[in-house]
Amino acid sequence: MKQLYILTGCSKGLGKALLDSLLENEEHHVVGISRSMMEEKERFVHVQLDLGNTSALIEALPDIFPDGDFKKVVLINNAGWIGEIAPLGKLAPEGIAKIHAINVVAPAILINAFVGKYADKEVEKLVVNISSGAAEKDIDGWSGYSSSKSALNRISGVAQAESDLKGYNINYFALAPGIVDTPMQEDIRSAKSVDFSGLEKFISFKSNNELSSPEEVAKKVIYLMGNADKFKGVIQDVRKF
Ligand SMILES: NC(=O)c1ccc[n+]([C@@H]2O[C@H](COP(=O)([O-])OP(=O)(O)OC[C@H]3O[C@@H](n4cnc5c(N)ncnc54)[C@H](OP(=O)(O)O)[C@@H]3O)[C@@H](O)[C@H]2O)c1
Repeated sequence: MKQLYILTGCSKGLGKALLDSLLENEEHHVVGISRSMMEEKERFVHVQLDLGNTSALIEALPDIFPDGDFKKVVLINNAGWIGEIAPLGKLAPEGIAKIHAINVVAPAILINAFVGKYADKEVEKLVVNISSGAAEKDIDGWSGYSSSKSALNRISGVAQAESDLKGYNINYFALAPGIVDTPMQEDIRSAKSVDFSGLEKFISFKSNNELSSPEEVAKKVIYLMGNADKFKGVIQDVRKF
């Protein structure tokens, strides 16, 4: 029987590796979201949308959550933006609003719609929010990113508490993917050292081949989604399994 995966940020990086991996299984049907145009194929529907545009996201919700008989429904909030890398005092206010719209508001709206649609359905239900180790750290130049991932962790925890209380039977994870060789890491390496004291460290992660490939991290995410009962606790890190 069919399984439904709603995947944000499916055009590049970790999301693209997840999309390719998911589609290898013929039971899987994917609704993917990104700003880039993507060709649809069998079992893959694409919704072209800027998740930073909150009203456009709200309008698109009916296209994102299809009807149908699925034995498992999964929401993967993977899209994320590192934001403008600079200290508070130097940030464009528009960028502050935008990073929280993409990294916090959009996942919260999608979780809200997911719960509304599937909470009372007798199917396996899972939400994986791709978070970051930065959620737990005070990284200079990353005020928007660190705080947005912290908020995502907290939303995941509250959502799990609500599911347990109301008997929705939804499993939530906020999963840190490690340091992954994606366009986001290129954005980090293009920051100015005056705005980000960690710049040299991130440049050396790449030159020392310390980054994980998107494909190997996608495999771990897929393992977690297939073995949710083996994972205790909402906050998870791919480097621990
Ligand atoms: N790479 C790392 O080392 C690392 C480390 C920790 C956590 N993470 C997290 O892992 C997740 C995936 O990161 P990644 O490294 O694969 O990022 P990436 O290479 O920058 O790719 C981001 C994906 O999200 C989509 N996206 C970005 N902004 C969007 C928007 N406004 N509306 C719709 N889609 C948008 C992009 O598609 P379009 O450009 O086509 O819109 C792309 O498909 C993120 O949540 C990130 O915070 C990554």
